[in-house]
Amino acid sequence: MSDLLGIVGSVSTPSKTRAAIEISLQAAENEFDVNTEILHLAEYDLDIADGRKLDEYTGDTADALNLIINSSAFLIGTPVYRGSYSGALKNLFDLIPRGQWQSDEAPLEDRPIGLIATGATDHHYLSISHELEPIASFFGSHQVGSGVYVNSSQFDDHQVTDKEIIARLETLGKATIELSKAVDNAQYLSQLGPQF
Ligand SMILES: Cc1cc2nc3c(=O)[nH]c(=O)nc-3n(C[C@H](O)[C@H](O)[C@H](O)COP(=O)(O)O)c2cc1C
Repeated sequence: MSDLLGIVGSVSTPSKTRAAIEISLQAAENEFDVNTEILHLAEYDLDIADGRKLDEYTGDTADALNLIINSSAFLIGTPVYRGSYSGALKNLFDLIPRGQWQSDEAPLEDRPIGLIATGATDHHYLSISHELEPIASFFGSHQVGSGVYVNSSQFDDHQVTDKEIIARLETLGKATIELSKAVDNAQYLSQLGPQF
């Protein structure tokens, strides 16, 4: 069981996206009594989603999906590829159940998701709101603020060096836990889910 799971939608190692997510996870751990885990797609040999039932997946795919199902808040980060999130992350989104067809499980429904994207330049900053937010909405998640976008000039040797971005990443990690607690204690926030 993870209080906060960082999902790294990059298959690269080292990964700038992972470095950014790790800052947010560490800040959440430092501020609150929570445990965090990381699911870096470079470390999982995932099946390509084909619509089968959740319990028919095995190996790394089952492990990754179990980790997601057993987590209560999420930081989802991606490298920007062609103005959007990575194909590897798209496959993971296709694998995650949504309470219909493949499984009754809906691990992202009514749970907080902090969004992070890393790109070469700032040109695709809006990929967070234009590409990631709609999928978070499709799952019926609660988005945490407007996320964090990091460009390559804010890294040195795959580590984030820009102090303002580090602070924003730290805030995102802490805010994701705050929202998670708020949802847990709320009467209505945990009941909206997707309409369809
Ligand atoms: C196939 C591919 C497509 C990319 N497309 C974009 C893009 O459209 N916009 C952008 O800003 N950066 C683009 N990049 C750069 C990556 O988003 C950037 O280097 C990212 O920080 C890499 O993260 P990672 O180290 O976690 O994989 C692309 C990189 C690759 C490999």
